[in-house]
Amino acid sequence: MALLLFLFLATTLTISHASEHTNLIPNQIHPLRPQSGAGGSNVAGLSCLSWRFGVETNNIIDWNTVPKECGDYVGHYMLGGQYRNDSRVVANEAILYAESLSLGKDGKDMWIFDTDETALSNVPYYAENGFGLTPYNSTLFNAWVLKGKAPALPETLNLYKKLMKLGIKVVFLTGRPDSQRDATAKNLKKAGYKTWEKLILREPSESGKAAVEYKSGHRKKLEESGYRIVGNIGDQWSDLIGTNPGNRTFKMPDPMYYIG
Ligand SMILES: *[C@@H]1O[C@H](CO)[C@@H](O)[C@H](O)[C@H]1NC(C)=O
Ligand SMILES: *[C@@H]1O[C@H](CO)[C@@H](O)[C@H](O)[C@H]1NC(C)=O
Ligand SMILES: *[C@@H]1O[C@H](CO)[C@@H](O)[C@H](O)[C@H]1NC(C)=O
Ligand SMILES: [Mg+2]
Repeated sequence: MALLLFLFLATTLTISHASEHTNLIPNQIHPLRPQSGAGGSNVAGLSCLSWRFGVETNNIIDWNTVPKECGDYVGHYMLGGQYRNDSRVVANEAILYAESLSLGKDGKDMWIFDTDETALSNVPYYAENGFGLTPYNSTLFNAWVLKGKAPALPETLNLYKKLMKLGIKVVFLTGRPDSQRDATAKNLKKAGYKTWEKLILREPSESGKAAVEYKSGHRKKLEESGYRIVGNIGDQWSDLIGTNPGNRTFKMPDPMYYIG
């Protein structure tokens, strides 16, 4: 009896484990990498799931790199179906909320989009550079940004299209430096974000500002100039807290890096 139960559990676990990695989602943003290492092991999986939960809830802050033992776990999470499913839940909630709004007729309702790991996905870059296991390397990352080849996170693009149809103005507010304006604009268009009200990047004079301060300042200016920020979406808590956060905020998943 005990043996049967064991066999049953073992089979179920194997099946659910396998489907996590073989479940192909349309619009894949990066091919699944071959399975290797112990990233799926249950013991490591459980503790890394708790770590990821702590990160997403902003309980674990100010971290520099993904813990060594969670490197494979984060890689599988990002490339398997779970990341995309988690993103879809966020985008769908945002769409339901946007559809429920009674909008002003003055064209001043606005939605703030973060760029990296929100509108655009750098998964192809992180797949080559260890999914957050190594510290941020600005030389390598800037070279990737200038290629302008980041795909859209499809769930965010879906939200964007719904908002455009509803007549909500879209602003991309990114921590990328203004020197990357052309590359970012071209990349956004190529990824399917055809138009926007504003694309805001960091001016050289803002380079020393913390993300919260920088983003809050621009949101405040937008509201002072008459816009109403009805929604705000980003993968970092620093996109969503501070002043003038918007009527509702939506947190996209990102267990690869932390920006305070
Ligand atoms: C993602 O969602 C789909 C359907 O909603 C489901 O069939 C699939 O198992 C999910 N994948 C994961 C890894 O949870
Ligand atoms: C960034 O990556 C480049 C190329 O691999 C390497 O030469 C450089 O030392 C790295 N910089 C840091 C700060 O790690
Ligand atoms: C958004 O928040 C402002 C300020 O709290 C409030 O006056 C306004 O009614 C809210 N708008 C919506 C659409 O909920
Ligand atoms: Mg981001």
